Amino acid sequence: MSDRLKGKVCIITGTGSGMGRAAALLFAREGAKIVGCDVNEATGQATLEAVRAIGGHMMSLQPCNMAKRADVDRLMSLAVDAYGGVDVLYNNGSCWAASACRRTSRRWRCTSPPTNRHG
Ligand SMILES: NC(=O)c1ccc[n+]([C@@H]2O[C@H](COP(=O)([O-])OP(=O)(O)OC[C@H]3O[C@@H](n4cnc5c(N)ncnc54)[C@H](O)[C@@H]3O)[C@@H](O)[C@H]2O)c1
Repeated sequence: MSDRLKGKVCIITGTGSGMGRAAALLFAREGAKIVGCDVNEATGQATLEAVRAIGGHMMSLQPCNMAKRADVDRLMSLAVDAYGGVDVLYNNGSCWAASACRRTSRRWRCTSPPTNRHG
């Protein structure tokens, strides 16, 4: 593994499972300082422990719901307070639906960050 992300502060949302967890482990091996979050407290904590177990640097906020502005603000504050800023944002967390065409507006609002929404 190289040091391609050495010292970079990387926010990754949805680190509790799937690609978010995989990214947290990969970015950690590349030297990043990770700020993770997940709406699921148990799985978010499990990823935090997995990253630290391989010697990675990570802070994590859970539960943190990216559909709630106050939670997003807390996540940003954690990054600034712990690591002094943000270099990379991997906004991965959301709930998968079988087809985007079958998503209702309500479901979209529940899983999309406030920064991408109107209303
Ligand atoms: N896996 C695929 O084949 C695929 C394909 C295309 C796009 N995607 C997209 O990639 C992303 C990750 O996919 P995945 O397969 O790893 O999904 P996943 O369900 O395994 O992981 C998503 C994580 O996001 C968390 N999450 C959901 N809503 C959240 C919220 N409001 N706030 C904070 N955390 C939240 C979940 O708890 C979960 O841990 C999703 O946005 C998905 O739509 C996945």
